[in-house]
Amino acid sequence: MTELRDATPTDLDTLVTLDALGFPADAWDRPAWEAELDGPGRRVRVAVVGDEVVGALVTMTLGEVSDLVRVVVRPEARRNGVARVLLTDALSHAKAAGADRMLLEVSALNRGAIALYVDAGFTQIDQRPRYYKDGSDALVLRRSLGPSCNWSAS
Ligand SMILES: CC(C)(COP(=O)(O)OP(=O)(O)OC[C@H]1O[C@@H](n2cnc3c(N)ncnc32)[C@H](O)[C@@H]1OP(=O)(O)O)[C@@H](O)C(=O)NCCC(=O)NCCS
Repeated sequence: MTELRDATPTDLDTLVTLDALGFPADAWDRPAWEAELDGPGRRVRVAVVGDEVVGALVTMTLGEVSDLVRVVVRPEARRNGVARVLLTDALSHAKAAGADRMLLEVSALNRGAIALYVDAGFTQIDQRPRYYKDGSDALVLRRSLGPSCNWSAS
């Protein structure tokens, strides 16, 4: 069973390792993750199965806008609903914190992540050409945090 909790400084080594697996070309180093744990409006949640951290999700919620900054799941734990659980939690928390929308950027080549976000009710509102190091465009996606915060509601 997947359980969620706030990340702590004792998770930093695990977060760095997890991130390198998920973003081989663009991983955050330890100082970057440390900054996320302390940053304004940041919320870093980890998904735990047994004793193992299998996923992490970072949001930045300031005023009415919540940004989905990072989501990553350990390769061997994928397609088991871990990101879905993390994202559902993030949407609920952002709404409770007063945000009325969540925004994110995702590479146009990242079909798996795009499928995850579309499944969660995100829609594309913009596109940034050649945004990523590999030359791919960023799709800017938005999800309203309306009256219902159910997974499939938009
Ligand atoms: C994207 C990522 C976070 C998804 O994590 P996950 O735990 O495997 O996702 P879930 O199992 O919760 O998937 C939920 C739904 O999203 C969609 N989805 C997720 N990964 C998918 C994939 N590779 N291909 C197609 N659909 C996918 C499916 O609709 C899935 O539901 P289903 O399994 O019932 O069909 C994971 O693949 C990852 O860490 N990738 C590397 C880092 C990354 O790209 N992060 C996003 C950057 S914007």
